[in-house]
Amino acid sequence: GNNVEQIVIGSDHAGFAMKEHIKTELVLRGITFRDVGVFSEERSDYPVFSAKVARAVASGEFERGVIICGTGIGASITANRFKNVRAALCVTEEMAHMSRSHNNANVLVLGGRITSLEEASKILEIWLTTGFEGGRHSHRLQMIEDISCSTKDE
Ligand code: RB5
Repeated sequence: GNNVEQIVIGSDHAGFAMKEHIKTELVLRGITFRDVGVFSEERSDYPVFSAKVARAVASGEFERGVIICGTGIGASITANRFKNVRAALCVTEEMAHMSRSHNNANVLVLGGRITSLEEASKILEIWLTTGFEGGRHSHRLQMIEDISCSTKDE
């Protein structure tokens, strides 16, 4: 590893425990990260932390992000408002695989109240190690950017 932060991670209170778990997995893998919060299980608003992660990916500061809320739905809706952010809510290992190979997902979204910590580890592992297939899928991703509103957050 090196000292460059590679992943930006955030959650609301409902994703806090899973965020801490995912951080220990990242440490084990030698992957450095920036945690944008939250830092406790005190009630918080998922758009705030989802936007912090998405903005850091949209700006190019980080190549990849991880966001966790209760279901993963609110975090996904928020993150996908940002240009060039492809946030994928992954509930199965198959979804994690496809989100990378076909969608080149650059933000992994997990549901802290939906997925077990054990399953989240497996999903993370696949998401981190699967490459984008490119080809016809690149064209489709470009189509998504082309239909995106130009006034979206930069
Ligand atoms: C918080 O209770 C919950 O609404 C939030 O974590 C998330 O699941 C939203 O989609």
